[in-house]
Amino acid sequence: MAKDFLTMEDSNRSANTSIHEVSDPARRSLLRGGLGLGLGGLLGLGGCASGGVLGGPLLGFKSVPVSTADSIVVPEGYSAQVIAAWGEPVGLSGEDSAFRFDGSNTAAQQETQLGMHHDGIHFFAQEGSKSGLLVMNHEYSDDGLLHTDGMQSWNAQKVRKAQAAHGVSVIEVQQQPSGRWELVRPSPWARRITAYTPMQLAGPAAGHALMKTAQDASGRRVLGTLNNCASGITPWGTYLTCEENFINYFKGPDAPDAHERRWGLRKGDPAGYRWHEHDERFDAVKHPNEPNRFGWVVEIDPFNPSSTPIKRTALGRAAHEGATVAVTKDGRAVVYMGEDARFEYIYKFVSRDKIRPGGLAANSELLDHGTLYVARFDADGTGRWLALSQGQGPLSAAAGFADQGEVVIKSRQASDLLGATKMDRPEWIAVDKEGYVYCTLTNNSNRAGDKQPAVDAANPRANNSMGHIIRWKEQGDFDATTLAWNHFVLAGDPANERAEAKGNIKGDAFGCPDGLWVDGRGVLWIQTDMSTSAMGKGDLARLGNNCMLAADPRSGEVRRFLTGPAGSEVTGATMTPDGRTMFINIQHPGESPSERSDPAQPRRFSNWPDQRPDGRPRSATVVVRKLDGGVIGS
Ligand code: FEO
Ligand code: CA
Ligand code: CA
Repeated sequence: MAKDFLTMEDSNRSANTSIHEVSDPARRSLLRGGLGLGLGGLLGLGGCASGGVLGGPLLGFKSVPVSTADSIVVPEGYSAQVIAAWGEPVGLSGEDSAFRFDGSNTAAQQETQLGMHHDGIHFFAQEGSKSGLLVMNHEYSDDGLLHTDGMQSWNAQKVRKAQAAHGVSVIEVQQQPSGRWELVRPSPWARRITAYTPMQLAGPAAGHALMKTAQDASGRRVLGTLNNCASGITPWGTYLTCEENFINYFKGPDAPDAHERRWGLRKGDPAGYRWHEHDERFDAVKHPNEPNRFGWVVEIDPFNPSSTPIKRTALGRAAHEGATVAVTKDGRAVVYMGEDARFEYIYKFVSRDKIRPGGLAANSELLDHGTLYVARFDADGTGRWLALSQGQGPLSAAAGFADQGEVVIKSRQASDLLGATKMDRPEWIAVDKEGYVYCTLTNNSNRAGDKQPAVDAANPRANNSMGHIIRWKEQGDFDATTLAWNHFVLAGDPANERAEAKGNIKGDAFGCPDGLWVDGRGVLWIQTDMSTSAMGKGDLARLGNNCMLAADPRSGEVRRFLTGPAGSEVTGATMTPDGRTMFINIQHPGESPSERSDPAQPRRFSNWPDQRPDGRPRSATVVVRKLDGGVIGS
């Protein structure tokens, strides 16, 4: 436990690495200039001035208090504007179906509107910091809100509408002379990607026997993307959307086999999405390979609206939270990924080839060739990246891994065999200006429970209700196979009686960190996702609604910046290159503890953002600006 409180410098000394290896100014300029697009922004190096504005402190705002209000609260001197709520038209040419507040929009209309449950988001600048594309995920649907009468008289149209409410939206946004932001409609870039958009499979699992289905004998074409949680971007200008809890959409057999059990497929339809009743491919009894075609990182070219999204199987299959790209000194892509499930793993992929100047066309196979690793965090503060490579170590044909395709499809089983560290639900990953890699571990109430894995050095608290943030530095470049780690923070509330729920936060209390992003000045933004069933109770009793905080990676100070409306989570963060506009997403305002609303009482827990007497709560994007037009957080 003592290691948890080591400073950054202590960690570096103990690991015999130098902070200067990655903060070398010469290397920064190489990163900035060498590859054309946005590497600076990727690593938090570009955009506005480094560190504090004009030498000021990194965090310059006054914290907001804990809130239980059904509204967004931002610090003094800031404004919050809602745009792009669920159901707003994305701006497809000739399509302008207004949102109907009674939930009566059709499936075909939903296909032209923003989906439900906004999550990961990125601003792709077009014209400096005044206009660009916002690309965002829609994680799942709440059928109690999506349809006028919820899940009554369940039919094929309702399934289709739910599928249309999933996936990704691409919208064009522009700042007006007043400072406010608006959607540009129609826009040639506007696009909806849904749970039935045709996609290509690429990498070692493409064409594999385990990927072939009755609908797709090639094993290379799949319909749709599901449960798109966190996101990432590549240096060549594409968006990475990540498939998280995909298994919940499938009806499982009475007696799932070992592979199905390891991936959480259960008898019947335990999550109650009921898609299989009208879309047979979600019946895994009839189509046992269909679940293998989900759980991937999907690459989308936002500037080519007719492009086919590509599932990059070399990055491994997982209940993927996000995908965060760093770049080695010689220009190879390193993708960091968390798998958000109790006792699952942290992964990284190192590309074989170097990034080439140009967009996706120049890098069309970059994410198809390379080495996938899983992390092991050792008790002495070091760690090791274990290669998930067929034929190496225990990953033999005799052990059930006939080829690399089978390794990536069964990455959980392969990671088990390699002895990787079972983590407390790895969520988003971010890389700071010093090259530290941070991962939120949101919580794990099962840690050290009956017949469950015990605490370990990296996951040090039993019944981890509050979560923590681990960070590491690679021992060498981002492709290194060894690392040095410590805990950036153990989340908690000092007022808690339970010692293990107090945490060690320097600043404002929070629990259940999930979203994580480093901005251009190096601020580490932390977003929370306390579940609605646990919020306001027990260890979380005094923490109010979910929120977003800003942290100084050097001092460890944490300040609460924004609180979300009742029953929501705050997720996804991005800024314009000048750092003067921030976009975040508010997901599931008014979520009921069961995560499915009662259609007879849609406003029971929240009526955000519209607050109409006849309305219903809607996930939405929020634009945060400083009233004086200054840099956010300064
Ligand atoms: Fe979709 Fe792990 O949050
Ligand atoms: Ca999340
Ligand atoms: Ca979460």
